[in-house]
Amino acid sequence: MTASVQPIVWAGDHLRLLDQRVLPHEERWVDCRNAFQVAEAIHGMAVRGAPAIGIAAAYGLVLDALHHRDYDAAELVLAESRPTAVNLRWALARMRGVWRGGADAARLLAEAQLIHAEDLAQNLTMGKLGAALLPRDATVITHCNTGALATGGHGTALGVIRSAYAIGHLAQVYNTETRPWLQGARLTAWELTRENIPAKLIADGAAAHLMATQKIDWVIVGADRIAANGDTANKIGTYSLAVSARRHGVKFMVVAPSGTFDLQIRSGQSIPIEERVPRELTEFRGAPIAPLDMDAWNPVFDVTPADLIDAIVCEKGVIENPTEAKVRALLG
Ligand code: MRU
Repeated sequence: MTASVQPIVWAGDHLRLLDQRVLPHEERWVDCRNAFQVAEAIHGMAVRGAPAIGIAAAYGLVLDALHHRDYDAAELVLAESRPTAVNLRWALARMRGVWRGGADAARLLAEAQLIHAEDLAQNLTMGKLGAALLPRDATVITHCNTGALATGGHGTALGVIRSAYAIGHLAQVYNTETRPWLQGARLTAWELTRENIPAKLIADGAAAHLMATQKIDWVIVGADRIAANGDTANKIGTYSLAVSARRHGVKFMVVAPSGTFDLQIRSGQSIPIEERVPRELTEFRGAPIAPLDMDAWNPVFDVTPADLIDAIVCEKGVIENPTEAKVRALLG
């Protein structure tokens, strides 16, 4: 039941990334031969999604180790490529642990491949755990892209959707377009249609109306960083979905591997929220859509407070109605 798409490929002496900026109408690959090119691919969104950028960064360190470049400089440029998803720093810390032990490039490669493989295994576990929470013939809403493109395979929230569909528990997915970068309209739609999972695209602004007028069982989303108290940073618009879900009696599920938890941060208030250039809002594919002198504010993540979350699904288990005590008990 693993997804066929493999967006991160180790090619022996370089890293190949499926360019997510041009999907779904073009399948183009970006070849990276050093950590700076990987950092550029992460910052420029050729590869995106919290677990996927952690995996790509791990391979980035391997590339520099292969050519005996400056490990510290490579780590720094990768760490600074995007601020919100903690998986990036988590993967770098794990690679640093191996490097400190005096590892060569081959040993670093083995660790990067392990991080990659473990992510897929964790997603398959979370898929089963999350699918078990859904009623038969569930109708769900998902946001952004949390599938094979965003991870080591299968996906987090989309992994739960895939697993639920495989056991016949899923009747219908509504996926938001996810303005402004359109991860939902371009990437989630691509993954869902490739596997014939029944799905309908909605405008982000249609979600509350959908919950008010049709029976929706769960909103299922991924995460970029989960604080110790369960507050969850995810793609901008997630918080609005959680507020609407609570208003309409719809359950709200967050699906994320243990590498997405940041237990050093007690609440979501301390999570750094990435702000990207106004141009992503004022232009579409290079063509202006707002007046030329229009300014814009473009935060690309928001924080959903833990009390709006009914369940956090992690590979270690399910936390219902998350609190700091429950998160620390499961994560250790
Ligand atoms: O800006 P992006 O596309 O990297 O944001 C991705 C998300 O917000 C995902 O929901 C999150 O990383 C979880 S992916 C499994």
